[in-house]
Amino acid sequence: MTFLNEVTERFPDAVSFAPGRPYDAEFSLDDVLADVRAYVAHRAAGDDPGAAERSLLQYGPTGGLVGDLIARLLASSEDVHVPPESIVVSVGAQEALLLALRTLFASRDDVLVVPGSCYVGVSGAARLLDLTVRPVRETADGIDLGELDRVVHAERTAGRRVRACYVVPDAANPSGATLSRADRVALLSAARRHDFLILEDSPYRVFTGPDPMPSLKSLDTGRRVVQIGSFAKTAYPGLRVGYLVADQTVRHPDGRRTMLATEIAKVRSMVTCNAPGLTQAALGGFLLRHDFRLDKATATAAAHYRQTLDEVLRTLDECFPAGERERLGVGWNVPDGGFFLRLRVPFRADEAALQRSATEYGVIWTPMAFFALDGGGRDEIRLSCSALDPARARDGIQRLARMVRDHLQS
Ligand SMILES: Cc1ncc(COP(=O)(O)O)c(C=O)c1O
Repeated sequence: MTFLNEVTERFPDAVSFAPGRPYDAEFSLDDVLADVRAYVAHRAAGDDPGAAERSLLQYGPTGGLVGDLIARLLASSEDVHVPPESIVVSVGAQEALLLALRTLFASRDDVLVVPGSCYVGVSGAARLLDLTVRPVRETADGIDLGELDRVVHAERTAGRRVRACYVVPDAANPSGATLSRADRVALLSAARRHDFLILEDSPYRVFTGPDPMPSLKSLDTGRRVVQIGSFAKTAYPGLRVGYLVADQTVRHPDGRRTMLATEIAKVRSMVTCNAPGLTQAALGGFLLRHDFRLDKATATAAAHYRQTLDEVLRTLDECFPAGERERLGVGWNVPDGGFFLRLRVPFRADEAALQRSATEYGVIWTPMAFFALDGGGRDEIRLSCSALDPARARDGIQRLARMVRDHLQS
């Protein structure tokens, strides 16, 4: 990733399909400040507004200030009904991931299962914590459940246990894949059968169209899912507010029972104490302003992502007509939405190819091998559409197509 950043800096004029940055044309500090004020007014509701203000600037509760508002959001948007105490407000989904892994994994014999091409935030956090990670092959729709079964058995035979399986079920980063409803149900059933937890991380769900798949948490009748939430794509990444839903019961050796969220909050008290009050307030005000409708709050951004993704798909179709794809050695998936798609190319998609692509063709992308934990993705690239407008994305795909054709002629 450092290499990718270097390339991006050296070729500022290149069309870059690398960053997964959200659309920011509507970001406004005035809105954020008004949201903070609206949150304070909401909290004060007739009581002392000074006390509500001070609470934002004081040390806050380790579980967070806005768990009740997030619980309300989950109930209205996902049909997930959890008590506010089961929610820990985190510093972005990234901290939530780290906290969940640190709390759940006790020894090297606890295994984290991840998709073969895995979001670097989770593989990196797992590396930081020295966890045992097992990648599982993917189908076009996401994690391969037959393979998952085999991995669980193999680990058990080796004296280890799969503690959790991490998935991005909707328009995944990096693959763009969305898990089918049947696979969601089957994954929950595998978690029950083999006694592991599912870490559901779904920042792109809201961008999968008007009728998204049910979240795993909403289908979870056995408290198998720890849901990781991000507001980076639905509000502002700069707020660094995310959350965890951890309503599982933890049984302690002395017979006490606590909620997993309580244990996670204890860990976080040693990491960041609490998520900043001010940014939680901005997020709280944002939710209130949009009446807890993230689909409406993100309508302009979603239309932008959709248009760029459609343009990318259209240009790929034009540049690589269906009858020629096989011969050219190219292929791609058609995501339900979101930021990313994966493209197979006829050359080794490594750092040297990326360098050539930036220098000679003025187009930058991310090698899928950067995400692959199973040695795969060598001839695949991740295209991120979020930060480009349709015209620039079209230009970028045409540049990439020239690179493919030049390679085949060389
Ligand atoms: C799958 C996935 N999870 C988590 C994150 C990080 O979210 P946050 O910015 O809330 O830490 C990202 C950001 O790119 C992501 O793609």
